[in-house]
Amino acid sequence: MKDLSKLLEANRAWAAEMQKEDPQFFSRLVAQQRPEYLWIGCSDSRVPANQIVNLMPGDVFVHRNIANLVHTNDINCLAVIQFAVEVLNVKHIILCGHYGCGGVQAAIDDNSHGLVDYWVWSIKLTYKRHKHWLDKLPAEKRPPILCELNVIEQVSTLGCNRVIQQAWSQGNAVQLHSWIYDIHDGLLRDLGMCCGASDDPELLYKQALADIKERASA
Ligand code: CO
Repeated sequence: MKDLSKLLEANRAWAAEMQKEDPQFFSRLVAQQRPEYLWIGCSDSRVPANQIVNLMPGDVFVHRNIANLVHTNDINCLAVIQFAVEVLNVKHIILCGHYGCGGVQAAIDDNSHGLVDYWVWSIKLTYKRHKHWLDKLPAEKRPPILCELNVIEQVSTLGCNRVIQQAWSQGNAVQLHSWIYDIHDGLLRDLGMCCGASDDPELLYKQALADIKERASA
């Protein structure tokens, strides 16, 4: 407890500052949260959702796990998606990966990482599926490209998600986005797979994959 006193002190200073800048700030948030965005990102401490897009408390609903994965059997992630879409009525779902992702690295090296190996299994499968062209790239290019591939794979999974499909069929215009964050310069890049009700996720996946391949071989 003693070791964390600095954090609690910092919290009191932050709350006081917020209150000073906007006396109604907390009372507004108490009444209701109305985020426009659902962020699905990596747990990595260097990729904090709110901060890198400069959003305030109340602006973004966040789900983070190792390597920003959307597993079809992950009740946690699925519940977040359903709540965000059906109750909060978010307008955008941002699937954000990042270069230098330890989870992606864990999927392609030969070391043992405990439970993480099970968690990132789907990235191993993605790597296997694209191995025939990935292995022709210089070794240092493979992990960042796999980080990008992992993002569009997850957006593809989101495009097949029942909650999202149902929302689209009922006229909800929620859009899916594929972003990747560079921890070297703090910048986000849009991988171009932006998917809404009238789009074909499979077609957009193919286009995004072609773009990734083209940039990888440039
Ligand atoms: Co990561």
